[in-house]
Amino acid sequence: MKDFAGKTAFVTGGASGIGLGIAKALLGDGANVAIADIRQDHLDAAMAELAGEGFGADRVLPIQLDITDRAAFKAAADATEAKFGSIHVLVNNAGVAVVGPTELATHADWDWVMGVNLGGTINGIVEMTPRILSHGEGGHILCTASMSALVPVGGTAIYSSTKAAVTSIMECMRPELEGRGVICHAFCPGAVQSNIADAGATRPGDLADTGYAEADKRRQQGGNFMHLFQTKEEVGARVLQGMKDEELYILTHAEFLDGVRERGDATTLAVQDHLPVNEEYKATFAMLFSNPAIRAEVERQRALKAGRG
Ligand SMILES: NC(=O)c1ccc[n+]([C@@H]2O[C@H](COP(=O)([O-])OP(=O)(O)OC[C@H]3O[C@@H](n4cnc5c(N)ncnc54)[C@H](O)[C@@H]3O)[C@@H](O)[C@H]2O)c1
Repeated sequence: MKDFAGKTAFVTGGASGIGLGIAKALLGDGANVAIADIRQDHLDAAMAELAGEGFGADRVLPIQLDITDRAAFKAAADATEAKFGSIHVLVNNAGVAVVGPTELATHADWDWVMGVNLGGTINGIVEMTPRILSHGEGGHILCTASMSALVPVGGTAIYSSTKAAVTSIMECMRPELEGRGVICHAFCPGAVQSNIADAGATRPGDLADTGYAEADKRRQQGGNFMHLFQTKEEVGARVLQGMKDEELYILTHAEFLDGVRERGDATTLAVQDHLPVNEEYKATFAMLFSNPAIRAEVERQRALKAGRG
């Protein structure tokens, strides 16, 4: 989709940080946007910020939604269609994080982050994909992953595994849907100015038991690095362009180049290519050995790079 004017987008976690940045970019390009967020205070603040930039209630629908609640997700989708008509763009963006030594993590730490980052994303996909396919006008499904999906580091097992999973979902769905005009993207930002350090405020009481209470206190005293991070407007603009360019992987930060390359090199070198290839196995299961969407992405990224000079 090259032009989002008059189209409808649904952005989870759309009232803060990256989600709000994406919502602004889509609004700026003419889309109507539902911003769905668990926090009413974030929704109120976002509506005020958007109104200050000329985007009022005629173009923005604020919806209080916990993405782990499937019935509420359906109701939110219905409300969006009732106000704006067919949904074209799903931005599965809401997310939370805990980090620290994996041996300290409790079941509740895993369940909370998996439930929101992966479970909530799955809820979005199950609820919205048939709706986006149904009208035949095309669309986009974008999941906010993270560079930690591509460069997972120690201390981030819970968070990184959710982000790897949503990246994988986009990699698998891309070839399934693109022939029908629905383009899937894995958005993998580095650090962005946001409120994610405050994510614990939405942690459900029954998942409160954490192994990271002490580590969290220490981290909160660790300093403020926001000046090193990209702004939500910068990444929002990047996402909009990435959607228009149909990038499978939408990345933001040059600092990760070595890490991404090392992972690619390490996995390539680990292939047991000294062993003979069973040609019958290879021909019989050809669909398992290479993803056409990833193959095409190599050419797409080469062309985009060449265009940048
Ligand atoms: N900020 C970064 O540096 C960074 C880097 C890489 C990836 N990300 C990812 O970007 C996404 C957005 O995070 P952010 O950094 O903008 O944080 P943020 O906290 O500013 O925004 C996330 C929003 O999601 C909402 N939310 C949380 N749980 C929810 C739920 N269950 N249902 C609905 N809404 C919920 C929050 O209320 C918040 O408004 C997340 O998926 C995060 O993992 C962030």
